[in-house]
Amino acid sequence: MKILLTGGTGYIGSHTAVELISRGHEVEILDNLVNSKITALDNIEKISNVKPKFYFVDLLDKENLDKTFKKNHFDLVIHFAGLKSVAESIEQPLRYYENNIGGTINLLEVMKKYNCKRLVFSSSATVYGNQDGVKLTEDSQTGIGITNPYGETKFMIEQILQDLAVADPDFKITILRYFNPVGSHESGLLGEDPNDIPNNLMPYIMKVSTGELAKLSVYGDDYDTPDGTAMRDFIHVVDLARGHVAAIDHQKNGVQIYNLGTGKATSVMEMVKAFEKAAGKPLPYKIAGRRPGDLAVVFAGAEKAEKELGWKAELTIEDAMRDTINYLNHLK
Ligand code: WQD
Repeated sequence: MKILLTGGTGYIGSHTAVELISRGHEVEILDNLVNSKITALDNIEKISNVKPKFYFVDLLDKENLDKTFKKNHFDLVIHFAGLKSVAESIEQPLRYYENNIGGTINLLEVMKKYNCKRLVFSSSATVYGNQDGVKLTEDSQTGIGITNPYGETKFMIEQILQDLAVADPDFKITILRYFNPVGSHESGLLGEDPNDIPNNLMPYIMKVSTGELAKLSVYGDDYDTPDGTAMRDFIHVVDLARGHVAAIDHQKNGVQIYNLGTGKATSVMEMVKAFEKAAGKPLPYKIAGRRPGDLAVVFAGAEKAEKELGWKAELTIEDAMRDTINYLNHLK
């Protein structure tokens, strides 16, 4: 199929592009490069021997978005594009609501206009709100206790997609709720390289490891967990990318929702120790206070994707750390 990836030069998008190309799909990328680099296209080409066609388009620029779809037929869109910093969304709610929701509505309207009615949406475990320490399955409560506008945009877009599917039953929509993506492609050519000060654990660890940042702050060691630090469902980004391939192979009319997680929770301190082991050197860190809004334990019920998509995460934390170190070595 000819598949358009919005936000496809980003961390998860670029890894997904590689997996789709390896399965014979024709991949094209639309991105405004607000939080990614055009060099991702070269790196995708080095891995796949294919350089995806690129459209430098902002989803808020509906005129150019329309032109893109008018000139090119796409069988399916995977919608990664969106601002994703939890902290930034709290400071800039209007920018997040306009960009993430307004951009998505533009995309959906243009897709409908040009009869492109297959969509995979990059959602997030954050839609489960403040449910702490329980296995989160696809029918767990959503939308209650979300602590930030970023998470609200993901939840609202899920509602928009549900309503669209009712109004237009020709749409095939898959919502994928990511837990905590980590790691890099084994080539060391793709990885998380945010343009800004990172929010997430692994990009922060990476910048401490390269010396760009002095020390990791471990946000709290007084949680009710085995080592006192918070726990998350960290999933290798290549497993996550493969989940998208499985999703498009099983699409049907209406809306399907799947968690993409490992089903296991790993602590922050376990991640630090795993990184140190892979790096062969200590990582400078200090114990700091809890980060407001953080939960103690968040992890997926991952059974549904395995049962219905025939997909489950197979790579380990050690794989993710090995691949992250390899990526850092390539960045030098
Ligand atoms: C993980 C753990 C922190 C940084 C968020 C979004 C979610 C998804 C993933 C996009 C927490 C701790 C972190 C640091 C730390 N994003 N930490 N020091 O908060 O689970 O989820 O990112 O879809 O939607 O909500 O991820 O990586 O920010 O934090 O101790 O410098 O690492 O306290 O326990 P989180 P995270």
